[in-house]
Amino acid sequence: MLIDGFGRKHDYLRVSVTERCNFRCQYCMPEKPFSWVPKENLLTYEELFKFIKVGIDEGIKKVRITGGEPLLREELDVFLKMIYDYKNDIDLALTTNGFLLSKVAQRLKDSGLKRINVSLDSLNEATAAKMAQKNVLKTVLEGIEEANKVGLKIKINCVPLKGINDQDILEVLEFCMEKGYVVRFIEFMENHHAKDGAKGLNSDEIKEIISQKYPNFKTVPRDTSSPAQYYEFENGFQFGIIEPHKDDFCASCNRIRLTAEGYLIPCLYFEDAMSIKDAVQNNDIDEAANILKKVLANKPEKNKWSTKDENETSSRAFYETGG
Ligand code: GTP
Ligand code: 5AD
Ligand code: SF4
Repeated sequence: MLIDGFGRKHDYLRVSVTERCNFRCQYCMPEKPFSWVPKENLLTYEELFKFIKVGIDEGIKKVRITGGEPLLREELDVFLKMIYDYKNDIDLALTTNGFLLSKVAQRLKDSGLKRINVSLDSLNEATAAKMAQKNVLKTVLEGIEEANKVGLKIKINCVPLKGINDQDILEVLEFCMEKGYVVRFIEFMENHHAKDGAKGLNSDEIKEIISQKYPNFKTVPRDTSSPAQYYEFENGFQFGIIEPHKDDFCASCNRIRLTAEGYLIPCLYFEDAMSIKDAVQNNDIDEAANILKKVLANKPEKNKWSTKDENETSSRAFYETGG
């Protein structure tokens, strides 16, 4: 079992397969082109898989593939199948922006993928294009529809930014209610790579907007395996809010991240990382397991967004860490 220095049990591994992305979401990436990590620096699927096996043997029950945009990496279905064939009851999930989804949804499902989380920040074409800095809405909606059709469970992520998509919260919520998708609104996590001046709505502001139309919702007891706090309407529909600015958000953290270059990262906020690249390339499985335990032992108690300092901002790039 994987326990960190604060007694938190870790059973969730997020694996980024690329930091490249075909969107430039305002809360995540700089608009101007920058250089990507050269492809030869990335771990191969076989190398990533060696580490995933170590994690699973130590107690990982949920593996989520992330990016950047993970569907930009070729043959992702082959990678998923490697994990599924090793342990077919693993909770195998993917986080994507949905742009390349419609063509590959069936293949992903056939490779053992169970769930998919897709960003949907607005249902207004112009607003979605402003947020992603690209015309994306129609293609993303087709991707979501297709994923739903092939039987993948869908969760929608929406990051409301002031003056950009804060007017679209109810529409996104009602779209999910109608389609039967789970929806979570995420408080913007301030970071150096986001667009200058980007400002998120906090959980109270999001709830205030929702309560104008749906005044009666109750707080659902927190499921500690998820970063979201859920709320329930009288009709039984639930929506979630991911509230990293709240003090207790990190108390039940169960996750650790592996980047495409092989860095193990204990927390989305912090710089501390150790590489497992040499260990997997040398087939030194014991060393990979040792590094995993060291990273967990040094995991911080909480992120710094939850401090009340408004200027707290992370230098870590979300597209690199895998969100
Ligand atoms: P589920 O397995 O469906 O619960 O997915 P998830 O919420 O773990 O995955 P997803 O990739 O959809 O993550 C949504 C967002 O939640 C992330 O990109 C982050 O913005 C936020 N989040 C997830 N884990 C953490 C965390 O450990 N710390 C912080 N601060 N935010 C997190
Ligand atoms: N703050 C909050 N959420 C973010 N995401 C990406 N960057 C940020 C940020 N700075 C979300 C996206 C995506 C998920 C993986 O992470 O909405 O759905
Ligand atoms: Fe790409 Fe996801 Fe970042 Fe948007 S949030 S730019 S889709 S990595």
